[in-house]
Amino acid sequence: MNVAREAMKILEENRRESSGNMYTLPSADHYPYQWLWDSCFHAIILARYDAKLARGEIRSLLSKQFDNGMLPHIIYWTPGILHLFRWGVEGTSSLTQPPMVAYAVREIHRRDPDIPFLEDVFPSLIAYYRYLLTVRDPMGYHLAGIINPDESGEDNSPRFDEPLGISHDVTLQEHLGKRHALVDAHRELQFDITRHMNDYFWVKDVLFNAVLVENLRALADIALLINRDDDSAWAGREAEAVAAAMRERMFEDGAYWSTMGKSFMKLKVDTWARFVPLFAGLYSATEARAAVEGYLKDPDAFAAPWGIRTVSKKEVSYRPAAEENDFSWRGPVWMAPHWFIYRGLVRYGFTEEARGIREKSVALLEHSGFRECFNPETGEAYGARSFTWGALVLDMQEDGDAS
Ligand code: GLC
Repeated sequence: MNVAREAMKILEENRRESSGNMYTLPSADHYPYQWLWDSCFHAIILARYDAKLARGEIRSLLSKQFDNGMLPHIIYWTPGILHLFRWGVEGTSSLTQPPMVAYAVREIHRRDPDIPFLEDVFPSLIAYYRYLLTVRDPMGYHLAGIINPDESGEDNSPRFDEPLGISHDVTLQEHLGKRHALVDAHRELQFDITRHMNDYFWVKDVLFNAVLVENLRALADIALLINRDDDSAWAGREAEAVAAAMRERMFEDGAYWSTMGKSFMKLKVDTWARFVPLFAGLYSATEARAAVEGYLKDPDAFAAPWGIRTVSKKEVSYRPAAEENDFSWRGPVWMAPHWFIYRGLVRYGFTEEARGIREKSVALLEHSGFRECFNPETGEAYGARSFTWGALVLDMQEDGDAS
């Protein structure tokens, strides 16, 4: 299989248009709608080939922004698989997802400069990040809270077992039931986020907040490009405030840990979130080296024959296979984590290691196809087919690097 050609083919086949909005389905069979962070990934990849399509993907995402600034994690452009509507309110989900949109917009502009596009989307972008820094941080800790594991993008990751009050042996169906119950509770509270956080689920997640830091920096860059110096200064300050709060509240024993509730209890389940701070430059050079040498490259922790495990093999919750051939964030390899880790490694100058991630990603796609996730030990594929995330290998290559 020619991986690059297959990636472009899937992106094209999964593209849809609805009421003038252009977007890409993560997978036509499993996910027949538009997803927030998936669309940011699509835009980052498309920016390399067709910036117009990338801009379209972003515009359709922003078109369903809530009045309070929130961007929903799913937009149900067309009716389809019914159970997915359980997340919804009037045509969209009531949740959000890791805030990658400013990064995607900056990337599109970097590859195909377009100031009017930046001016056009900026008000929506800043409204979204202001929402995350206010409504999602009612106590002013400078950490954005998530109210459902799905908002982390890692729906059933074991780092949410404790806040959900479930055991590590939970089945996928029981887990889904818990997450749906949270959405129902949210609806009953008439979407009062503060009450929901106090009464049901309030996690300050490492991935979500590291993504927030890096995206606030992207927002600061975008603001500067369109001469909004005050907004740029604000976003830059907020980025560093979130980074400082993460250091203060999450850092222990060489890693950042997600925390729950008012007490900031650390959720010490060792997942690939250990490597996400690399993406946002939150580790010192020494800490980064320790994370890479001591964990990323350790075959008994994260380094598996077919890629990077999403949960350390040392965790009791580690499950390399996905139940009922569905998806799982309890161990299997996913391509978006590979992409974040690749970007983090490049940032810190681990060029060889970054290349290794790309090579493993390509080998896995060649072996198992463009599927949702993969068994780290055997390469067996699970979940959705013609899943777009494999196309992220196209962005695991630096400009001018022909290897
Ligand atoms: C799964 C993933 C989530 C993704 C969605 C659509 O729910 O866990 O991260 O956004 O599928 O691809």
